[in-house]
Amino acid sequence: MADTKVTLSGWELDNPVIPASGTFGYGKEFAQCYDINCLGTFSFKGTTREPRFGNPTPRIAECPAGIINSVGLQNPGVDHVLAVELPEMAEYFHKKVIANVGGFSVEDYAETCRKLDACDQVGMLEVNVSCPNVDHGGMTFGVSPEAAAQVTRAVKAVTGKPVYIKLSPNVTDIVPIAKACEEAGADGLSLINTLLGMRIDLRTRKPVIANRMGGYSGEGIFPVALRMVWQVYEAVGIPIIGMGGVRSARDVIEMMLAGASAVQVGTVNLIDPWACEKIIGELPQVMEEYGIVSLREIIGGAHHG
Ligand code: FUM
Repeated sequence: MADTKVTLSGWELDNPVIPASGTFGYGKEFAQCYDINCLGTFSFKGTTREPRFGNPTPRIAECPAGIINSVGLQNPGVDHVLAVELPEMAEYFHKKVIANVGGFSVEDYAETCRKLDACDQVGMLEVNVSCPNVDHGGMTFGVSPEAAAQVTRAVKAVTGKPVYIKLSPNVTDIVPIAKACEEAGADGLSLINTLLGMRIDLRTRKPVIANRMGGYSGEGIFPVALRMVWQVYEAVGIPIIGMGGVRSARDVIEMMLAGASAVQVGTVNLIDPWACEKIIGELPQVMEEYGIVSLREIIGGAHHG
């Protein structure tokens, strides 16, 4: 029988399929479509120290092979997440969850993580140093090895939970940033966040998105994400959660062969709310088709021999 289990920093997941932050909210709406307890886990919408209304609209531009978003880290703030969202979530999701954390200063990241550290439901902190949609903070920390390392050290100092740093693809070379996070004590890495992009409305001759630019995600970025997972796997010894344009069980396996220990699924949730359930359902059959007995055995498999 196909073994779909994977392990992230000592945390065993039933399968590697994890809805990505920002595409799954707190899971509530999806729990009305299917029993989301079939997921490995999920990463809930990025949480900041203070509540955020987000960017002006329009925030979304559709593209042929994905979408551009400029949501601007809209969320109710960490205190509300701890007091309301997580207790509610416990009623429909019975596994530990990944808390995605955004910030505008090193202190912001540390304070939000310190608060989340006290919550048993949180199995891991995914520290987002790669949001392209805010003027300061966000991606600013993820494009410099020193700044990414500084955030990593500050967060590690306030939590005993595994810390995964979510990296930006909007850099010349992702490898030095990945290595700096590992050296600063990161337990793992999540990659990639969205690619900075834009669209222009031919009628108005103005950018479609109010903020002009946004993060491009969806199937069009899969080869870029796969390439970066491959490069980072060659350079670090910590686990990688791979993401970017994943839509099928075959994509999950490809990401794992490139070096991912687990895989996040994002934009396709907005197109088909049942996408993750379908991917999990397909995995055993696709594993059998390619002679895979255990998913753990294929991690980084494309690098060997
Ligand atoms: O704008 C946003 O909320 C997106 C966040 C991200 O891509 O990290």
